[in-house]
Order: sequence, then C-alpha cells, then structure tokens
Amino acid sequence: MKSAEEIREIISKLTLEEKASLCSGNTFWLTKEIPEKGVPRIMVSDGPVGLRKQDNIEDHLGMNESIKAVCFPAGVGMAATFNRELYGKMGETLGEECRAENVAVILGPAVNIKRSPLCGRNFEYLSEDPYLASEMATSYVKGVQSKHVGTSIKHFAVNNMETRRFSASSNLSERAFREIYLAAFEGPVRNAKPWTVMCSYNRINGELASENKYLLTDILRNDWGFEGNVVSDWGAVSNRVKALKNGLNLEMPTSYGENDQLIVEAVKKGELDEKILDDNVFSLLKLTFDAYDNINNSDDYTFDRDKHHDIARDIAAETFVLLKNEGNLLPLNKNMKIAVVGAYAETPRFQGGGSAHINCSKITGFLDACKENGLVDIKFAKGFSPVADDFNENLCEEAISIAKEADVTLIFAGLPDIFESEGYDRKHMSMPSCQLKVIAEVSKAAKKTVVVLHNGSPIEMPFVNDVDSILECYLGGQAVGSAQYDIIFGDKSPSGRLAETFPIRLEDNPSYLNFPGCKNNVNYAEDIFVGYRYYDKKKMNVLFPFGFGLSYTEFKYDNLRLSSENINENDELKVLVDITNTGSVESKEVVQLYVKNCDTKVLRPIREFKGFEKISLKPGETKTVEFKLCKRSFAYYEEIVKDWVVPAGTYEIEIGKDSRNIILSKSVNITSTPILPDSYDYDTITEDLLDDPRISDLVKEYIGKGNPDREKSEVEMESINEEMEYAGMMYSPLRSGLYFTGGNIRYDDIDEFLEKINKAIK
Ligand code: BGC
Repeated sequence: MKSAEEIREIISKLTLEEKASLCSGNTFWLTKEIPEKGVPRIMVSDGPVGLRKQDNIEDHLGMNESIKAVCFPAGVGMAATFNRELYGKMGETLGEECRAENVAVILGPAVNIKRSPLCGRNFEYLSEDPYLASEMATSYVKGVQSKHVGTSIKHFAVNNMETRRFSASSNLSERAFREIYLAAFEGPVRNAKPWTVMCSYNRINGELASENKYLLTDILRNDWGFEGNVVSDWGAVSNRVKALKNGLNLEMPTSYGENDQLIVEAVKKGELDEKILDDNVFSLLKLTFDAYDNINNSDDYTFDRDKHHDIARDIAAETFVLLKNEGNLLPLNKNMKIAVVGAYAETPRFQGGGSAHINCSKITGFLDACKENGLVDIKFAKGFSPVADDFNENLCEEAISIAKEADVTLIFAGLPDIFESEGYDRKHMSMPSCQLKVIAEVSKAAKKTVVVLHNGSPIEMPFVNDVDSILECYLGGQAVGSAQYDIIFGDKSPSGRLAETFPIRLEDNPSYLNFPGCKNNVNYAEDIFVGYRYYDKKKMNVLFPFGFGLSYTEFKYDNLRLSSENINENDELKVLVDITNTGSVESKEVVQLYVKNCDTKVLRPIREFKGFEKISLKPGETKTVEFKLCKRSFAYYEEIVKDWVVPAGTYEIEIGKDSRNIILSKSVNITSTPILPDSYDYDTITEDLLDDPRISDLVKEYIGKGNPDREKSEVEMESINEEMEYAGMMYSPLRSGLYFTGGNIRYDDIDEFLEKINKAIK
C-alpha cells in the first residue's frame, strides 16, 4: 500500500508517454508495469462463476485454455437461491482462489436486468428485478473483496442483449433507467464499494457507455459516490480521449499503444488537460498498489479444488427450483425402480459459453453421483443428442422401453450449449424439438415422470401438464450431479425460487415487440414494466411467477405486524412475521415482501419486490422474520424533480411465497412532502391547480367567477352530460377561460389570478 503522497511522487517522475501508457492494458489480462519507476502490474481475470485465468494464450471468449478451476453455479441459479449469505460465501471462495493465483480483480458479478428471456447472457445475469439483483450482487462483491481482491461489477449499463452488442443503443426513459436498469448497480456500488465497474459495449440513448459522462461521472461518481476505477469491457473503447475525459479509467485489453498515443497527442495539442490524465493515473496506481501488496502477501492462500468442488455442490443444491411436484412424487425412494433418460444425466450442461467459461477441475453428472453413492441399479437411456436438435428414433425407443419397466422415470433435458451463449441472443424460447418429442413419448409410457432441466433462462414447457414433477436446475456448476442427487433423493429439500417470470410463451413478454430492436436502436417501450411488473399490471397468466418455488415441507405464515400504521416518508418501517415449518422435513423458506403501491395519479406497478429473508426451519419450528423498509422501498423516480419521490397515501405491505401468492398483508399510511410546481402559467389546467393544497381555495373562488351555475338551455343539457362538463372544466387550461365563460373571464382576470397564485406558492 502506498500513501497518496508516495503515489503523487511516483507520478511526478513519469513522462507524459508513461502516464498515457498506464491508461490501457499491457496484454489481455495484465496492466502495464514500469519497474524502473516503481510501478508494478496486476492481473485481472474472468469471472464471475469461477476463475478463468489464462496463463498462456489469451482471449476474451474462452477459446483458449485457462487453468483448471472450479465452476460454481451460474448467476441465474445464484439469484434463485435468494440467499445473500450463500452468494457471499461463493464470493469469499473465489476471492481465496484469486489470492492463491495472484489475480487482483475478478471480472464479476454480472448484474444486468433480464429484460427478455432471449438475451444470450441471461445465464450469467441475476434477475428481472433490480432489488433482488442489487442485494445478491452486494453480497458477492463483499464476499470477494473481504479477501482483498477486487471485483468488476458489469456491464454498466443497460446491456440487456447480445445482438449488435458493440453498437446498439438502448433507448429508454430516465425513470426506467433509474428504477430498473441502474438500480441493480446502485446498491452494490453504494453499499459494497466494488474496486472497479466495467462499462458495457452498448450505447445508452445514443451515447456509448465507455464515453458517457452522464453515466460514468454524473451518476456513478457524483450521485453514488463511486471512488474506484471504471474499466472498459474488452474492446468497448471508441474515442479514448473522450472516454478519459468522461470517466473511463482503464482501457482493456491492450490497444498496442495506439490509444495511449492519442492521449499523448491530445495533451500536447491542448485538447486534454494533463491534470485529468494525472488524476486518472493516480486512481489507477492506487488500485495497482492496493492489489499488488495483497498479491505479495498471499502465502496463506491455497486453491484446494476438491474442497471447492464440495462447496460448489452445497451451493448448487440451493439453486434448484422445484416447479411442479404432483402427489409429492419427489423426493424419490432409493428402493424404487428408477429409469433415467436424457444425455444430460451423463454429460450435464452446467455452465454457459463465452468469457465466463471455466476449465473445470472435475465434473460430476447425476449418473456419476448415483454411482458414487452406491446406487447402481438404475437403467439409463440417452434419449437424444445433448448438442443438437436431431431426433433419433432408436434413442427414443430405447428410452420408452426402460421407462415402461420403471416405477419412475427421470428425464434430464434442457438447452444445448449452442442455444444460449455470450455473443448472440436466442431466437425463440423453445427447447430442441427432439427433446420435446422424447419427453412426450416417454411421459406417455412411464408410470411417473420427473423432468430435470438444465438451461440458463426461461423456456416454454409444452409438457407441463403431462409430467408429474419438474425440477429446474439451471446451469448448476461442475458439481451439479451430486447436488441433483441430494435433492432428488431428499437429503436436502429444494429451496430455490424463480428470480424471473417464466411466461407461457415468448409473445407474452413485455419486450417482445422491441427485442432486439431495429438495426442499432432498441426502444425500451415497456418502460418500467419489466417482468412481473408487466404481467401483474396486465393481469396475465404466466407459466411460473417471479418468486415461485416448491419445497418438500409446508410453511405457515402468521402474525404480520408493522412497527407503525402511520409513518412519514423518511421513517423506517419495521415489518415482522412469524413463519412455522408445519411439515415433516427441515427446509429453507424464502419469505418475500412486496409493497403494493398506493392509488395515485402516478403510473406504477401493482406491487414491487422490496424485501426477502431466507430462513431454515426444522419441523415444528417457528421463527420471526424482520424486514426494514425505508423511503426507497416506497419511492418512484420522478423525472420532473430528478429524484426519488414517495406519493402520500396508503400502501399495502404484502408477505408472500411468490409474487402471485400473497399470504398476509397490512396497510401503512405514508405522509410525504408533495412535489409541487414553483410557478403556474396560462397553460396550466384546472385539475393541476386544484391538486395544489396551497392554492386550492383560491382556485375554487376563481372557478366561481366563470359562472358555472348559469341557467343551461335544453339543447345544452341534452348534448353535454355532467361528466363531460366536469372533464371540460378540469382539463381546461387557464387561458381557455376567455372562450368558455361567456365573456366573464378576460385576460386581465387571468393575469390577476396568476399573479395571486404564483405569489401564494412562493
Ligand atoms: C465480456 C466481459 C468479459 C470480458 C473479458 C467481454 O467480451 O463482455 O464480460 O469480462 O470480455 O473476458
């Protein structure tokens, strides 16, 4: 660690060229070093679900071999745990691996909002809900950084598809930007202080993220107080000098000196203030020295791959979501006659493709886990190809014949690698038709059927009514098979919950008409109505709602209480609820809190997810869960005042098992300072004037002047009903008094009234 003075001292000895050279990488993963001036280099590596450290040939898409490492479950599954502590533990484990391998910064977590089920990188991302994404990411960042290793929260921001990822512009309202897309980053930045933030490739409302002053300086640094370094996504820089001025610290990977030279020239020509460069180098050297010292003190850290494989197994079991379990078919009894169909039981699909791809130290599939546990009397048929959509009659027949003989048939299905990956988006939400055919045929022949799924984002499930149980395993990491064994045979009870809605069909998704947009423009026309916020507002049926997941036990929710029924917007509200395990096995429950918004003129979702706690309960055990809500739990982003606003009114505090299964609710009245204009003019309408308590009496008096009680002709009474008359008055601007009051109101009257009300609100 070096003091600020020491760093400044080093900078004072660097030439302009040397300073510029530090603003970009030396290679794919290393920063530059200038040993003769005392500047060391550091290494960064992907991220986020394991260490993709490339010692030899480097690339950003996982094409060349990296060191053997441990692959943990993908982000999609980690979010489904709804377990902050667990994600923190995964972060700590990765932090230790980084220390042992001398990696200074791990490139994760990836937290972009799941706007469409089609985004190719949804497996890496966390949720459709910003609160969940933000809370989970905060834990990951804290976990990694507790080992004095940096994180790089990515991809900042509004990077929700892979199509044209270097050029497309995500066009959205300020409100959707703040409430949905930025909120996933805001919590971790404010509360966990990631060492770095990785800016995304795309444009936001036309401006590249890498050179976007509003994003990187005004919001990230000025609003949220970020003090770390912004790193470009690999190759995201277009105009290096503009990017530097607007807040991008480090360009990655190397630009072979070309962009460094542009910085030098800009300083020489007076287009770039050298102070900006010096401040940037200061920030980069601070990161370098903090990290470098830790790397040199890493002797206590070892990367025990077997031990970490076991951690990955424990974590994976909590990522699985039990979607259906007719007649409590699961867990299975080991004495049953079991048939296993599906290639993924043998060669599981457990991770996504691209920069997150891990070179695994070992892989355990379900059949391996059965063997390891002495369960050898299981019949297996491959059923279909794990890599292509190619129906094979013989494989299907073989599967049907073993299913017929068994008490229960497990079908291990899902999406092949080629169906979802970094770099491109999915075109549809279907599973390969060959798999669907095998599921249809086998479930007809089998006595009981369990479908075990391996996929990184929602799929359509035409088989949902034809099978008894469905276990969603997402991409469960390299120990997936052992974790499946633990859940399927009941050593553990499933406790994952969906971090995203499964729509019935792709066309139901709110982004459907605008994904992936048109050429370089994608309009976020659904605005804040992403995921359940949309399906709820539209009262649509979904396949499985946000927050959904079954368990092997039952829970009773009771005794909801609030610390107060009346609060001010700045008060904290405590919410308590008692949860009892009324079933016969120990299990974890995710207690979910939603705020049902009060009825105001502001367009808002029906309810929003604002709290969750995961608790473990033994049979018969009761625990009290406590939530703390604050202003932000009730607020929306008001573009007029560029701030978070809580409309006064009655809100429902809802406690539920998922977004469509609210069990208890209580209301709270909130008072708040209303957002009122600071002046009115000729175009202000009556309704807005009457809404302002400071002047409503004056307004009523003024309306009286317009002679509303005059006698009406028969024709007028016939043609204009009361509602129309009322609407006519409420929606009329002040200036229209001239035309519609039979000459009773003139410009002088309007001017006099405006003066009076503008004085009253000063
Ligand atoms: C990805 C990043 C990744 C980087 C380095 C980029 O293509 O978008 O997520 O960290 O490559 O591999």
